[in-house]
Formats: sequence, structure tokens, C-alpha cells
Amino acid sequence: MKTQYYTATSLDGFIADPDHGLDWLLQFGMTDDYPDFIRDVGAVAMGSTTYEWVLADLARSAGGPPQTWPYEQPTWVFTSRDLPAIPGADVRFVSGDVRPVHERMVAEAAGKNVWLVGGGDLVGQFCDHGLVDELIVTVAPVTLGGGAPLLPRRIATPPLRLVSATTHADTFVQLRYEVPRD
Ligand SMILES: NC(=O)c1ccc[n+]([C@@H]2O[C@H](COP(=O)([O-])OP(=O)(O)OC[C@H]3O[C@@H](n4cnc5c(N)ncnc54)[C@H](OP(=O)(O)O)[C@@H]3O)[C@@H](O)[C@H]2O)c1
Repeated sequence: MKTQYYTATSLDGFIADPDHGLDWLLQFGMTDDYPDFIRDVGAVAMGSTTYEWVLADLARSAGGPPQTWPYEQPTWVFTSRDLPAIPGADVRFVSGDVRPVHERMVAEAAGKNVWLVGGGDLVGQFCDHGLVDELIVTVAPVTLGGGAPLLPRRIATPPLRLVSATTHADTFVQLRYEVPRD
């Protein structure tokens, strides 16, 4: 079981543009490794901006083909606000210290991986407590010039350990790193 930050980034290190848009990423479609990745995930965590993006995306699809909450796994959403729930989705709203939440996620994942969807600072909070095992970062061939940062933390000495670098669809490079343990 691992705790993984699996995300896509622009070449200049942003996971969303300054107005939280993802068009720069969605123009490429989904990477072909996602079905294998999600099969091994037992619990999901995200911050409120990411959750609100998913909510807005579901709303945008109204009138088009029916879309549903994308995760079968229990999902913990970090927020200090009262956010709308999604009928039928196993979403738990939490706030504050990530450590007790991570403990519950690991228990409920029952041997599967914990996926930290983002954003970057939330993942940084898990890093601060030594709770992140792997970064799996798909680099898209675009630059954004600003936006939501990939991981606004200093992890330099010891550095991340490169596990693999693979190309996908002649478009993306996917980098997999292990986070060093003290
Ligand atoms: N490229 C990709 O694959 C990818 C992946 C994931 C996300 N994204 C995008 O990246 C952007 C990330 O947005 P973001 O940087 O704002 O990050 P975020 O983590 O989605 O949201 C940050 C917000 O979550 C809440 N939060 C974070 N930690 C908390 C804690 N410990 N306790 C309580 N609340 C907490 C706070 O809001 P409140 O307390 O005010 O609610 C905070 O402002 C979004 O646009 C998302 O759609 C892209």
C-alpha cells in the first residue's frame, strides 16, 4: 500500500491555470495508464478547489451525456466551508490536520493505495508529515506561466528518487519518484 500523488502538470510546474482551468490538459484526453492506476486505489483525498472543479464539470455536462461522480472509492474533501454533497457519492468533508484523516484513509483502503488528487499545498501538508510515498507526475507539453503549483514545498536534500520515466502517446512524459524517508 502506498500514498501517491498522481497528477498532470504543465512543463513549468502548474496543475491548473490561474483561473483553475484545465483546458490545456483536457485537449489531450486521458493518459492510457489511468485505468491501471485507479484499479489499485482504495481511498481518495482532494482539496475543496479540486472538488468544486469536479462539481462544476458535472454541472457543465447537464444536457449532454449523463455524467456521474467519477470515483467509486471513498473520497475525503478538505475544506473549512460547508460544501454541497453529491447524491450517491461517498464523500466525507474534513478539515485541519491531515494525519488522522490519512490514518482513516489507510484503514478504509484495506491494502490498496491512497490517492492524493491535489492541489499541491494539500499534498504538501501530507509531505510535511512524511505521509507521501510516491509522486507520479505526467508532464504535458505546454507552459502556463502561472496557476496552481504542482507541489509548493522544498524537497531537495535528500532528493526525490527517480523510479521511472515513460512516454505516453508521443505527447506526455510520466515521471515516477519515490519520496525519501528520514
Ligand atoms: N492537473 C491535474 O491533474 C489536477 C489534479 C488535481 C487538481 N487540479 C486542479 O488544480 C487546482 C488546485 O487548486 P488549489 O491549489 O486551490 O488546491 P485544492 O487542494 O484543490 O484546494 C485548496 C483549498 O482546500 C481547502 N483546504 C486545503 N487544506 C485544508 C485543510 N487541511 N483543512 C481544511 N481545508 C483545507 C482550503 O479551502 P477552504 O477551506 O476555503 O474550502 C484550500 O484553499 C484546481 O483548479 C484543480 O481543479 C488539477
